[in-house]
Amino acid sequence: MNEQILRILNEHADHYVSGERLSQQLNCSRTAVWKHIRQLREEGYEFEAAPRLGYRLIQKPDLLNLDAVRQRLKGEELPFAIQYVKMTSSTQTDAHRLVEHGAEEGTIVIAESQTSGKGRMGRSWFSPAGKGLWMSMILKPDIPIHFAPQLTMLTTVALCRAIKSAARVEVGIKWPNDLLVNNKKVCGILLESSAEDERLKYVIAGIGISINMRKDEFPEELHSKATSLFIESGKPVSREQLLLQFLKDFHLLYKLYKLNGFGAIRTLWEDKSITLGQRIRAETGGGVLEGMAERLNEIGGLVVLMNDGSRQTIYSGDIYSQ
Ligand code: BTN
Repeated sequence: MNEQILRILNEHADHYVSGERLSQQLNCSRTAVWKHIRQLREEGYEFEAAPRLGYRLIQKPDLLNLDAVRQRLKGEELPFAIQYVKMTSSTQTDAHRLVEHGAEEGTIVIAESQTSGKGRMGRSWFSPAGKGLWMSMILKPDIPIHFAPQLTMLTTVALCRAIKSAARVEVGIKWPNDLLVNNKKVCGILLESSAEDERLKYVIAGIGISINMRKDEFPEELHSKATSLFIESGKPVSREQLLLQFLKDFHLLYKLYKLNGFGAIRTLWEDKSITLGQRIRAETGGGVLEGMAERLNEIGGLVVLMNDGSRQTIYSGDIYSQ
């Protein structure tokens, strides 16, 4: 039915087609037409709807050209296998299912849009069609479970570098894994892991980068907190180019990490951090604490210098500048 609606609206691209006419041609109710239009909007199609006149198709979604990306990955011998879905509830859920069915390290699920994108701490993640990169990557490093935060740090560093070279936007890292520009979030990471006998069995690194949304495309409640690379750079950014650059940067850092451990990643992270040296308030599972964010420890925890001169290290939670 969606295909038929698109065909009719495409044929009449320069004027409106009424809901009445669509429902007659498709032999369904006006409510059914409206539901299909809503579905298509979720897939990234943009329609103008005018009372009494009907609908007009004004924009088709910008779909990822993954063939080109896959070709380049092969050429550069990068060990990633990308699976693509147009719409899904969450690529995290998809990746968990894949890994449980034996998917290998380097398998990536990318969706054009997510209907229930997941953020950290049980929050939701706004993932409209064609406007960002919403992806989950399967990793299977042979490390103890308490080193998992290091992979988050590694991923944030790779993202900073890729965004800088593909979009020419300088982003800073807010501990633990938010990428900010002008104090607004442009990218978030959700790391979920499974362990056996204290060693990691696998990790799913979920990455959400807000790329080509205009300000009015964000929900009202995100206006003061979120931004996109398009808003910050004033130019549309190629999602393919950014994806490719990220995979290259990630691969390089991951190799370095597996060879030499966390040391170099930690230095790179500290260099991009906007948290260190700040007075912060941290809300963690264990309570609230206030102090000065001093450094990362060797595991990836944030060492906070308290007012009484003692130090506490936090491994998860939200922090706020003071
Ligand atoms: C956060 O900052 O709260 C983390 C956001 C992570 C969002 C990404 S989008 C792709 C992947 N699938 C999800 O459902 N979430 C992550």
